[in-house]
Amino acid sequence: MIVVGTRPEAIKMAPVILELKRLGNFSPCVVATAQHREMLDQVLREFSIEVDHDLDLMTNGQTLSQLTSRCISALDKVVTTEKPHIIIAQGDTTTTFVAALAAFYNRIPFAHVEAGLRTFDIMDPFPEEFNRQVVSKITRLHFAPTDSAARYLFNEGIPKDSIIVTGNTVIDALMSITTTHDRQRLDRPARKMLLTIHRRENFGEPLRRIGKALHMLLASEPELTINWPVHPNPNVKEFAWTEFGNHPRVHLKEPLGYAKFVSAMIEADFIVSDSGGVQEEAPALARPVLVLRKETERPEAVVAGAAQLVGTETESIVKSVSELMHNTALYKEMAKGISPYGDGKAASRIAAKIAEFCNSNM
Ligand code: UD1
Ligand code: UDP
Repeated sequence: MIVVGTRPEAIKMAPVILELKRLGNFSPCVVATAQHREMLDQVLREFSIEVDHDLDLMTNGQTLSQLTSRCISALDKVVTTEKPHIIIAQGDTTTTFVAALAAFYNRIPFAHVEAGLRTFDIMDPFPEEFNRQVVSKITRLHFAPTDSAARYLFNEGIPKDSIIVTGNTVIDALMSITTTHDRQRLDRPARKMLLTIHRRENFGEPLRRIGKALHMLLASEPELTINWPVHPNPNVKEFAWTEFGNHPRVHLKEPLGYAKFVSAMIEADFIVSDSGGVQEEAPALARPVLVLRKETERPEAVVAGAAQLVGTETESIVKSVSELMHNTALYKEMAKGISPYGDGKAASRIAAKIAEFCNSNM
C-alpha cells in the first residue's frame, strides 16, 4: 500500500509507484488521503497515477489536530480492509506520520522514503521534524536519500541493514520531465526571480518581513520581476494577493502543474523559496536558490555552494538577493549545476529492495 497526501509526496512517490507497477510482481494499492486536493490531483493526473482509495480529507484551513484525527480513522479502515503486506510513504507530512502510525497499530511493516532528514529542532520545521523523527522509530525499511541522512539514522541506533541509500526520488521525477542541465549564461544582471513560500514557521511576522524585503527590492531594482505561483494555504494566499496583487512586476499565479513549474524554474534566473523539494531540484537545474529558512535538513546544496540559507530577516533577504543579482562571479558559482540529492535511479533501488523484502518476509 502506497499512501500519498500532498503535492510533494505525489511528485516524489510517482516514480516509485510507476516502478512497482512496472516490476509486475506486486499489486500496488495507492491510497490518497487527499490532505491536499487540487494540488494532489494535478500531480496524479500528470503522472497518470490511478488511485484505489481516495479518502478526500482536505478541508479549507484545516488544523493539524483535525487533519490527524480524520486521517487516522479513515486510513485505519482502508488498512484493515486491504490488509497490505507493507505500507510505504514519503517524507514528513501529517499523511506520512499517520500512515506510519496506522502501519504500527496494525503490525504491518512500514517503509519510509526520504528517511533520515534532520534539523534536530522539533519546532523547525513544525511539525515536520517531529513527524520524521517519530516515523523513523516505527520504520522497517529506511530509504535514505543521501549518505548524511543514512548516518543520522545509524547514529540513532537503527540497524545498518535496514538503511538503504537510494538518492532522492525527486530527481527521478525531475528527470522524467527534463534531462538537460543548461547553465544560465547571463550577460546582464540576474533579474527573473521565481518565488515559493508555504512553511508554517513563516506565517505571520516572518511573512511580513519577507514581504517588506520584496517591496524594497522591487523599489531598488527596476529590472526585477517576480514569478510567484501562490500556495493555496489561506495564510499565504491572502497575504500574497493583498500585498502584491496590484504590483505590475509581481506575477501571482495559481499553483502550477509539475511540468509547468519545472519550466518556470528553468526560465528563472534564480529561485527564492522555503520549499524542501525546490531546494533539491534547483541545484540540478543549475539555478541558484536562496532559502527562506533559518535551518535546513537538506544541507548538501548549501555545502556545495548552490544554495544559501538567507533566513527571513528583511535586511538579510535584500542583501542576498541584491548580491546575487549583481555579483556575476557569485551567480556563476551558485549556478554551476550539481545534483547532490540523487542520480535519477532512486525509484528502481527502492522497488528492488521492497521486492527483496517481500520475497523473504511473506
Ligand atoms: C503541507 C505539509 C507540509 C508540506 C506542504 C507541501 C503537513 C503538516 N504539512 O502543508 O509539510 O511541505 O503540505 O505543500 O503535513 N489547500 C488547498 N488546496 C490544496 C492544498 C491545500 O486549498 O490542494 C489549502 C487548504 O485550505 C488547506 C490548507 O491549504 O486546509 C493547508 O493544507 P495542509 O496540507 O494542512 O498544509 P500545507 O501548508 O499545505
Ligand atoms: N511545485 C509544483 N508547482 C508549483 C510549486 C511547486 O509542481 O507551483 C513542485 C516543486 O517542483 C517540488 C514540489 O512541488 O517538486 C515542492 O512542493 P512544496 O514546496 O509544496 O512542498 P515541500 O517540498 O516544501 O514539502
